[in-house]
Amino acid sequence: MKALVLAGGAGTRLRPLTHTSAKQLVPVANKPVLFYGLEAIKDAGITDVGLIVGDTAAEIQTAVGDGSAFGIHTTYIRQDAPLGLAHAVLVARDFLGDDDFVMYLGDNFIVGGINDLVEEFSAHRPHAQIMLTEVSDARSFGVAELDAAGQVIGLEEKPKQPKSNLALVGVYMFTPAIHEAVRNLKPSWRGELEITEAIQWLIDNGKQVRSTTITGYWKDTGNVSDMLEVNRLVLETVEPHVLGTVEADCELIGRVVVEAGAQVSGSRIVGPAIIGAGTKVISSYIGPFTAIAQECMVDDSEIEYSIVLRGASIRGVGRIEASIIGHYAEVTPAPRVPRAYRLVLGDHSKVQISS
Ligand code: DAU
Repeated sequence: MKALVLAGGAGTRLRPLTHTSAKQLVPVANKPVLFYGLEAIKDAGITDVGLIVGDTAAEIQTAVGDGSAFGIHTTYIRQDAPLGLAHAVLVARDFLGDDDFVMYLGDNFIVGGINDLVEEFSAHRPHAQIMLTEVSDARSFGVAELDAAGQVIGLEEKPKQPKSNLALVGVYMFTPAIHEAVRNLKPSWRGELEITEAIQWLIDNGKQVRSTTITGYWKDTGNVSDMLEVNRLVLETVEPHVLGTVEADCELIGRVVVEAGAQVSGSRIVGPAIIGAGTKVISSYIGPFTAIAQECMVDDSEIEYSIVLRGASIRGVGRIEASIIGHYAEVTPAPRVPRAYRLVLGDHSKVQISS
């Protein structure tokens, strides 16, 4: 069995962060979201992994390399434009050969991995196996309709009026039957070859499509709030440890990781939080669910429930919350607007004026 991991695409919903870098490499608890997927694939016993890459190919290739760090072997497959998930299957035809494969969307995050899915597929070997999960608003996903027996009878991509609240999770199992399906597709209303329509083609042509509904945690990390939420979830599971330098005038509370070479002084860190290697935290407050990557600077500032990417600096600003700060971004205070208070104060008044 092989794996096809999709790490191309445009990443429009994470702009401007993804103007210059791959959305699959945005870190969750200081590790790119894509790496969690590669680890899950390896964990399921699959080592032959094709990566679909687009404009950000060089960056993905630098991060993942030949795959040996993950115990896998990688083949990079160039997709000239993000023409859809089914288009990615088309361009990967030579790599996939006549093998069964798992298709994994590189920006999806699944707690608990894919072992159960792969085992179930191997036991029954339907033509395709999909994973579903209940969502509150299905309009931005592929949506499945099941009959009373739980059989998939219809699939629609991002419907305006979803027929159910069951969204397609971005991990699919396929036999080579999918190749005929993708060859028969026409571009959808959004100009893409949709994998959802390819699976519908399988159903329409009498092929067996099984589904499993997962109740575990899943997120498509395509937007900022989902990224922050996944970051929160992973940070809750990190084992606290301090390898960097923490001065005696600091307070570390709860699950806090201070990576090697990080320096913390005059600060309070309330976990779960992680401070990356080589980062300096000076006279600051780092609040829960914050991941600060490597080589950053946080000085005289407060930040919580946020992700800070490599090399960013935050100096002299008040509280930052629910934010993603890009690579080498600089956050500094705006110059003070001159202002004056005119007061007529009674004798012995006590007045507090915010500075
Ligand atoms: O996350 C689950 C959803 O993923 C499913 O519910 C939908 O049915 C499915 O179409 C997909 O929807 P998205 O709109 O979220 O897909 P997105 O365009 O974000 O692409 C998913 C990943 O695949 C992302 O890592 C980029 C990559 N990609 C995407 C396209 C369109 C490629 O590598 N090539 C492409 O042509």
